[in-house]
Formats: sequence, structure tokens, C-alpha cells
Amino acid sequence: MSSAVDDFDRWIRNDFVALNTRLEEAYFAAGAQILHGRPELETVKGRIVGEGAELIARITRSDSTPPLIPTDDDERYELLGSVGLYLGACRRHEIDGPQATAWPLAQLLASSLGVAPRFVFAHQALYNRAVGDTFRTFTALADERAFILYNGLSVLAYQRTATALRRVPTLGVSSPLTAYLLREARSGLDDVLDLGRTLSKTLDVDRFFLNIRPYFKPHRVGGVEYRGVNAGDFAAINSIDVLLGLCSPYDPFYQGLLTEKYPYMAPEDQALLRTTVTAEPLLDAFLRETSDGRLTPQLRDNAELFLTVCRLHGAATAFHHHRLVVPFLQAPATRAPQEQGKGQEQDPEREASDLTTSGPPLHVVMDTLARLVDLRTARRRPGTDGGARRSLDRLRHALDADQDAAPNSE
Ligand code: HEM
Repeated sequence: MSSAVDDFDRWIRNDFVALNTRLEEAYFAAGAQILHGRPELETVKGRIVGEGAELIARITRSDSTPPLIPTDDDERYELLGSVGLYLGACRRHEIDGPQATAWPLAQLLASSLGVAPRFVFAHQALYNRAVGDTFRTFTALADERAFILYNGLSVLAYQRTATALRRVPTLGVSSPLTAYLLREARSGLDDVLDLGRTLSKTLDVDRFFLNIRPYFKPHRVGGVEYRGVNAGDFAAINSIDVLLGLCSPYDPFYQGLLTEKYPYMAPEDQALLRTTVTAEPLLDAFLRETSDGRLTPQLRDNAELFLTVCRLHGAATAFHHHRLVVPFLQAPATRAPQEQGKGQEQDPEREASDLTTSGPPLHVVMDTLARLVDLRTARRRPGTDGGARRSLDRLRHALDADQDAAPNSE
């Protein structure tokens, strides 16, 4: 890394964190999502925007030889994450002005990688090199660290599940090796549930709502507004959906979700998501192999394991919805005082979309998340076709019928 990039990295890991923490402690003490017009706080905001702009200008100096921009893809992605942290903080503290200095660098890095020119979830969770035991954060608050840690670990656990499931098609659903992979998938989802429970017990609702969530808002880079950080911006969750057969890439609702998230994922995840679209669902393969009613012991064991994995995937999404999104976002949003911009009246639609990361009003995001819960739990609801419910019931029936027909079943 060049010394200008090093200097910026050092600032992001030290002064930037200290300055944001000072502001957050002041907001929290006042029970506010933001404070304006307090001279001592305006000075701190001014330092964030000014010092960051100065350090970024040193990186983008056009007469440098060799160029200061890293040639390695991972290093460029990491630098984009740091520039994005800076832009996210300017948005969070509602600072205008010199941060526009950072836009050309964000755009250059992003276009060289084929991603959105902003800080995304992957920068926080998976492309966040720890130095001296500490990964990059906005603040030094314990709640922010816990949020990133348990989110990141959950993604690793989802990735473990997806990696195992992706290997099943070439082995076939009756292979003894598939049993091993399905147990691995089950273990990954058990971890997702455990990590979610730990996060829900560790995270303070007010801290999350007042001091952490506001850094994830949509913001502009150049003339374009990019949506905010979403912990769902990784491919594994969708690989699991589609490989299990709980969601279909031919369903226009689900297709819309997949298409929208590409620029917000790391380049390697974009490639993985593309392969998801052509995968044969394991549910179809199990139904095909069990259709003649003769189940070998291995096929039966694998099918039971498969149904357990489906149930856990649904349970993890239901937990996310009812025990994370509702208490940590929806409930405090209904209690929160109006989010005020600098002395101006806030437009109610804009305010509702500020609460979510993807931009639409909260009730629209809640409906989308609820629909994903229905699909992953294969729940029948009036007005829906029950997703994979009928196919899962057919598989269950085939297993029960085989059990009843077994010679020693009485
Ligand atoms: C306090 C904790 C959390 C809250 C309040 C929360 C909130 C949300 C919200 C509001 C969305 C929708 C974003 C939008 O469209 O605006 C979302 C999406 C998502 N979140 Fe979380 N989240 C939390 C933790 C987690 C964790 C630990 C994971 C595990 C990896 C996770 C995985 C996802 C996924 C995969 C999506 C995309 C939708 C889907 O495919 O289900 N979230 N989250």
C-alpha cells in the first residue's frame, strides 16, 4: 500500500473512530438520532469531513508515479470500504460539502471492480482486515462491534451451509457423501440460529437504533443515490434458498431481489449468485428419486436430513424477522421522535425510507421480509400458493409411506 493509502487507513482506524464515538455519545445522552447547532459537536463533524477529504485528496493526486491506487483487487475493494466508511459517516452526521472530494475515488475503485461506489455489508463483515485485534468500525461502541461480529459470523455459517449444498448435485441425493454434506449444512444453520440468539441478547435496542443503524443509510455518490448497507448482501443465502427448492429464480418477486443486489455484493459473490440461477433444486431431485416408492436406507436418511435442513432455514429466517427486525427496527421506529434534517421539516416518505437500508418505506420492506419468511418456511397463507409446501408434503408422505410399508414397522 502507498503511504497516502496507509495514512488514510490509519486515520480511519483511529481518529475517525474517536470522532464518531464522541458524536454518538452526545446523541445518545440527548436520546436523539442526531443533534444540530451545538458548536462543540459541529467542530467534531467539521474535523471528520475535513480531515477525511484532505487524506483522500492525497490519494487521488493525479501526478503520482507510480499511481497510488492499489493494483490488487482485494486491496482496492478494502480501500473502497474505507472511503465508504467516510462517506457513510458524513451522511450519518448530515454533513455536506468537502466529502464530494471522495466521490471520484469511490467511483474509480467501484468501476474497476464492477460494484456500487459505496461501503456495503461485505466491507464490514468479510473484507475487513483486523490490525492489532481490531477490525474497522465507525465507532468504538461495544454494540457496534457485537453487531458486526455476530452478523459476520452468521454469514460465515450461511456460507458453510451453501458450500456444502452446492456439492450435492454432482454426488446425487442418495450418496453416502451427501449425508455428510447435509449434516454440514444442518450444522451451519444451527450456528446461524445460535448466533442470532446471542446477537438478540447482546445488542441494546436503543444503541442499535440511535447509534449504529444511522450509518447504513442510502446516500449519494456523484449524481446517484445508492441504497444502504444490507446484511443480506451475500450470495450464500440465495444459493441455499434455490438449492433447497424453497425459492425459485423464475418467481418474479424473488428474481427482483436477486437482480437488485448484484452491485452491492463483493465481486466473488456476484459470480456465485450467477451460478445459483441454473442449479437444480435438491427438493426436485429427492422427489424424482423417491417417486417409485422404493427408498433405499441411504436415500431415506438423506431425505430426512434434507427436510431438517429446510426446517432450520425457515426457522433462521423467522428468527431474523421476529426477533431481530421487529424488536430492533420496527418497534423503536414506531416510538422514535421524527428524524429531523438540519432545521427542516422531514418529508414522511423520506423519513420512512431513512429507516430502512434499501430505500422503500419500512412497511414495504417488512412485507418483503415477511414474504421471504413465508417462502422459506413454506407456509400456506390465504392469497399465496404456499411455495414449496406441496412438494415438501409429498416428500414427507413418501417417507411416511415407506416407513409404514417396512416389514418391521409394527
Ligand atoms: C439487529 C439485527 C438485524 C436487523 C435489525 C436486521 C434488519 C434487516 C432489515 C431491515 C432488512 C431489510 C433491508 C432492506 O431491504 O432495507 C434485512 C435484510 C436481511 N438481513 Fe438482517 N437484520 C439484522 C441482523 C441480521 C443478521 C445477523 C443476519 C445474518 C446473516 C441478517 C441477514 C439478512 C438477510 C439475508 C437479509 C436480506 C433479506 C433475506 O434474504 O432474508 N440480518 N435485515
